[in-house]
Amino acid sequence: MSDSVNIDKISELRVSYKKAKLSIGDLNSNPIDQFKEWLHNAMKADIIEPTAMTLATVNNLGQPSLRNVLLKGISEKGFVFYTNYESRKGSEINTNNNVSINFLWKELERQVTINGHAEKISQKESEKYFKSRPIGHQISAWASTQSSKIPNREWMIEREQSMLSKFGTGEIPYPEFWGGFNITPKEIEFWQGRENRMHDRIQYVRNNEGWSKSRLSP
Ligand SMILES: Cc1cc2nc3c(=O)[nH]c(=O)nc-3n(C[C@H](O)[C@H](O)[C@H](O)COP(=O)(O)O)c2cc1C
Repeated sequence: MSDSVNIDKISELRVSYKKAKLSIGDLNSNPIDQFKEWLHNAMKADIIEPTAMTLATVNNLGQPSLRNVLLKGISEKGFVFYTNYESRKGSEINTNNNVSINFLWKELERQVTINGHAEKISQKESEKYFKSRPIGHQISAWASTQSSKIPNREWMIEREQSMLSKFGTGEIPYPEFWGGFNITPKEIEFWQGRENRMHDRIQYVRNNEGWSKSRLSP
């Protein structure tokens, strides 16, 4: 069978971005409203997991690490995601709460990058969201010792089963080691791919009055 792809030729892979342009005056003066508009566009475009964002944290040696998480809330206060507070990301945020997130909407030739700091949301809010999750997800939050080494998959399934029998058919209690983080943004950059790598980049920086907007070189 012939195969038209060749991984030795990745240096020749090239996409020309032509879908849209960004002008500083057309963007909303509030980057949160601008973000909502772009997320709306991404959801309308039927992109898989439009709320997926890559989250960067740093450890106490300054070593960054990345993973994807799902955005579950946006407000003037910032961007909320949920996780295990004892996971690698959770403990890194505990020692250094400077984080970055990046949304890549390839189909729209767009990315948004946000720098800020993460803080736990209230237990009440986390609990409310936890209870809105499907039962299987609630059980797995209890069963997962997220980021720790485990012997094998069977061990994990046994833990899931034992949590299922422990909680029976009643309401599953909220696990205090699990919950939301809100990322308060200080810089938000909107990136639109353009032809010949002459991309549009508009960056908002928080100041005393609100936000200032600048164009950055691609
Ligand atoms: C698209 C996508 C969405 C994910 N969403 C979450 C999430 O919302 N929360 C979470 O804890 N892990 C999520 N994960 C798993 C994380 O990427 C990661 O593997 C896990 O949280 C452990 O990360 P850590 O060891 O760096 O703490 C998601 C993975 C993918 C690929």
